[in-house]
Amino acid sequence: MYGSYWTAFVIQVWIGLLVLSAPYAQGNQQDDGPQTRPEEIPTALTDRPGNAERGRRIILDRERGDCVVCHALPQRANLSSNKQADVDRFALLPERRFHGTVGLPLDNIGKRYTAAELRLQLLDPKALNPHSIMPAYHTVAGLHSVLEAYRGKPILTAQEIEDVVAYLLTLRNEASQATKAGQTPSSSRHETSPYRVKGRRSGYTYLSEEHRQLQDDTFGNPGMLWVERGRALWDRTQGDNQQACASCHGDAATSMRGVRVRYPQFDPRTEKLINLEQRINRCRTEQLRAEAYPYESEALLALSAFVGSQSHGIPLSVDIEGPAAPFFEAGKAFFMRRRGQLDMACSHCHDEYAGQRLRGEVVSQGQTNGFPVYRLSWQTLGSTHRMFAWCNTAIRAQPLAYGANDYVNLELYMAWRGRGLPVETPGVRR
Ligand code: HEC
Ligand code: HEC
Ligand code: HEC
Repeated sequence: MYGSYWTAFVIQVWIGLLVLSAPYAQGNQQDDGPQTRPEEIPTALTDRPGNAERGRRIILDRERGDCVVCHALPQRANLSSNKQADVDRFALLPERRFHGTVGLPLDNIGKRYTAAELRLQLLDPKALNPHSIMPAYHTVAGLHSVLEAYRGKPILTAQEIEDVVAYLLTLRNEASQATKAGQTPSSSRHETSPYRVKGRRSGYTYLSEEHRQLQDDTFGNPGMLWVERGRALWDRTQGDNQQACASCHGDAATSMRGVRVRYPQFDPRTEKLINLEQRINRCRTEQLRAEAYPYESEALLALSAFVGSQSHGIPLSVDIEGPAAPFFEAGKAFFMRRRGQLDMACSHCHDEYAGQRLRGEVVSQGQTNGFPVYRLSWQTLGSTHRMFAWCNTAIRAQPLAYGANDYVNLELYMAWRGRGLPVETPGVRR
């Protein structure tokens, strides 16, 4: 029963394609050739953003997209529910060996293609390959001898194209893992996550749902332990002057709000950059008349986590102009410079291959808006400088001392690179 429907449909599709192919052949002869065609269609066809879940249905729907005829699709499409009806109707061809191989598998297509490229592939596959047998999904013009019921209608409406694009963009490594865990495709490019700003993606967006929840849960987030310790230190009387941070700064929720997003910044006194940890230590030595905390000590991490968390949700916005400019340039040069036995730059992993896997681990853009972060692999909180040293070591390069000028300069470049991303402190990472 199912088989005959399927066969009938396949025959219908292929008849359709034969019918469709004639006008294209003509069209191509009249054209100047593919080199004059645009490479992509950057503007969405509709005002309403594509909906990935609708797109998934369209793609699996025999009446509409039915991409499975030619392309293998990821086995486990994201189902919003486990309703058996959905499974029966949309999750056709449960076994991969029944998916078409005329086109390449569409696994991971969202990582390989942008929305603009996918639109072109769907609207005008022949712009890319004049001999393509893939249907143009939103074309009526130039078609010849179309079956009556379909005449004058494109295979997909403009909205359906956008939905399909939205769905295709979710077909990424992360998404297929997410699917297994029964999640929504939150790594889709259409996601409206605060941790994604103009192509800049926080490490949060690469996390599993489980780890995101860990970060978002104020009680579960292990970094909150340091925040609480920092709060206690803030109020504690200490040093020769017998004062507390609170003696001068009062309630951190107001006095420290928005402070983290401005650091590192130019310090006129030393005529170089100063970062948040160094700023805290300056108050300790000069105001409290107490000893500076060593870099990466529990106490300094606690205070920087506490002060940093007062800016939670506020976008990074460092000043790189004026006197900060040369330090910014130095930091940028550090980021781009190859180093170590493996001869790699930060930019190789975090700009060019972000989203790829290094062994088992997906490389993120290496953003710093979560710091200090609790890394599960470290089982503790760590500063940006500890992370820089870790990455340097990974490529067999000499790490610098925590607090080194070059790392503070790098920190400024990194903060600018992640400008607009909201502070997540304390972030949770793998
Ligand atoms: C009739 C077969 C056929 C159908 C149906 C079809 N495609 Fe294709 N598709 C191809 C072929 C063949 C290619 C290889 C490029 C070419 O020749 O145009 C391709 C290429 C692609 C590509 C680029 C893949 C890559 O790895 O470079 C995407 C994306 C794509 N198709 C998406 C879709 C989607 C989404 C649908 C359903 C809405 C669909 N295709 C339906 C045959 C098909
Ligand atoms: C060989 C690849 C590689 C190089 C080169 C590299 N890193 Fe990383 N980096 C990683 C991996 C893997 C992680 C952990 C997974 C992740 O968050 O990307 C990471 C994480 C980070 C993070 C934490 C991101 C977050 O969301 O918590 C920062 C910041 C970072 N790197 C900065 C740098 C800087 C600065 C350099 C150059 C000094 C650098 N990395 C060089 C692979 C690299
Ligand atoms: C005796 C008063 C005093 C004490 C005690 C004190 N500070 Fe300060 N703090 C200051 C002054 C003054 C400034 C400079 C204000 C400015 O930059 O306009 C400052 C600046 C700061 C800044 C930078 C604020 C910004 O807007 O850039 C931070 C962060 C900070 N203090 C943290 C601390 C911490 C943490 C403690 C406790 C360890 C502490 N301070 C204790 C007086 C104090």
